[in-house]
Amino acid sequence: MDKHITERLRMNDLHTRIVSADEAASWIQDGMTLGLSGFTRAGDAKAVPTSLVERAKTETFKVNIFTGASLGFDLDKLMAEAGIINKRLPFQADPSMRKKINDGNLYFVDQHLSHTAELIRSEVLDPIDYAIIEAVAITEEGLIIPATSVGNSSIFIEKARNVIIELNLAQPAELEGLHDIYSLNEQGKRGPIMLTSVNERIGEIGIPVDPAKIKGIVITKSLDSSSTIVPPDEETAQMAAHLITFFREEVKAGRLTNELAPLQSGIGSVANAVLHGLIDSEFENLEVYSEVLQDAVFDLFDHGKIRFASACSITLSEEKMNEVYANLEKYRDKLILRPQEISNHPELIRRLGLLSINTALEADIYGNINSTHVSGTKMMNGIGGSGDFARNCRTAIFVTKSTAKNGTISSIVPFASHVDHTEHDVDILVTEQGYADLRGLAPRERALVIIHNCAHPMYKEQLLQYFEEASLRGGQTPHILEKAFSWHTRLADQGTMLEKQFSFSL
Ligand code: COA
Repeated sequence: MDKHITERLRMNDLHTRIVSADEAASWIQDGMTLGLSGFTRAGDAKAVPTSLVERAKTETFKVNIFTGASLGFDLDKLMAEAGIINKRLPFQADPSMRKKINDGNLYFVDQHLSHTAELIRSEVLDPIDYAIIEAVAITEEGLIIPATSVGNSSIFIEKARNVIIELNLAQPAELEGLHDIYSLNEQGKRGPIMLTSVNERIGEIGIPVDPAKIKGIVITKSLDSSSTIVPPDEETAQMAAHLITFFREEVKAGRLTNELAPLQSGIGSVANAVLHGLIDSEFENLEVYSEVLQDAVFDLFDHGKIRFASACSITLSEEKMNEVYANLEKYRDKLILRPQEISNHPELIRRLGLLSINTALEADIYGNINSTHVSGTKMMNGIGGSGDFARNCRTAIFVTKSTAKNGTISSIVPFASHVDHTEHDVDILVTEQGYADLRGLAPRERALVIIHNCAHPMYKEQLLQYFEEASLRGGQTPHILEKAFSWHTRLADQGTMLEKQFSFSL
């Protein structure tokens, strides 16, 4: 057998289970539930789902697809377009799948990313028929070594009836040793998770499996799809500058030092760009306890700003991926990849006291945040881990540009058209205009700080007019219910949220 395979497939008994992706895909039947590895385009099972899509050209079937988070390799797009998905959870970020979801052609369960494992463990969700997991190696003892993400792979393997491993020879073998796999007992029979610092290891380097459950091993040779983030721009640089001002104020007040507190940063271009802004700051010796490590974290490593980073996946642009994988030794002792229920666990987020930075689509004048639904109805990506972090961290920071779509949309609105994070979970709101520190403020105080500090100048008067009119009606959180969504209906009818009387400002 090929030496590249035997070096990685070290449990000899498993050599006879190597099969083609097509054969493995042929085992999957209509109505089954599949647990696929993959988290924000990293470490996804690539070959078997691709064969499944091929099979759909001649057969009609539907399966439920559970993952860690979004998939790369266009798999969410291909599976959605092939019409083979009945239900998808807990997160996706693909435009074609988004369209199918919003057209009502497939069910999407938008779930806190720390919840999926608990729901599988407690058998609330459908049982997993096949776990299909990408690995870089299987050890002599039979530990599955995941690739660039852990996501939900350990709970999928633990609970699945059958396991298919995609042994990916293109993913760096040096990933072995990077993971820390810790499994939880069922709720009610569980002690504390003994993790008290970002760099601690509490588990094993791979996922234990009953070898009898491994039905097939598919050999693959493809790197992950690169991330689609766009580089920082002027507005995200301004947002980073405001965030740094906020951190400086915290240091001045004695609540933080220049080492800050462990940072969590969400997905997407904005969160990446804002984190990137820390490169030119005085903050150093930083720690990251996050879900995804994007380019900015490795840029900060390279500038000597970060001492340790823990997450459940690594998602990089093509250029950064080539650079990081060619120099993995440089980062190896400063990185840990954990299951997503550990990276996103409320107990740990609260204990470590994270500073969490996530992105909003829109915020309302009282600080409620919509991260998921465009104009209240159309799914964008999903809540991801933002709720896990915002509810439990030390300081929940949300960032968003003050307008979208060339100024026709104000990201600050009277009433959020969908609420993912309530006013109770939002501490700091940052736009390119400034930041609002909402801690300790009552709703009427919050409205003024958000409008003055965060709204775009062309929408300020319109927001103040709404707030003043609403305040005349009274209430702890004043609103004019019949006008609360008028900004969204105006956008739908007239293509802009801006009222005619204010349009001179455009
Ligand atoms: N209404 C309609 N569209 C809006 C909008 C609004 N209020 N605000 C932004 N958008 C659009 C942008 O115009 C852009 O559209 P495009 O793709 O057609 O260019 C798109 O939303 C993405 O916005 P962008 O400003 O490029 O930000 P991003 O890439 O950082 O993504 C989120 C922002 C909110 C979509 C993304 O961060 C997300 O899905 N968050 C939820 C999950 C999460 O926070 N996970 C983190 C835990 S790790």
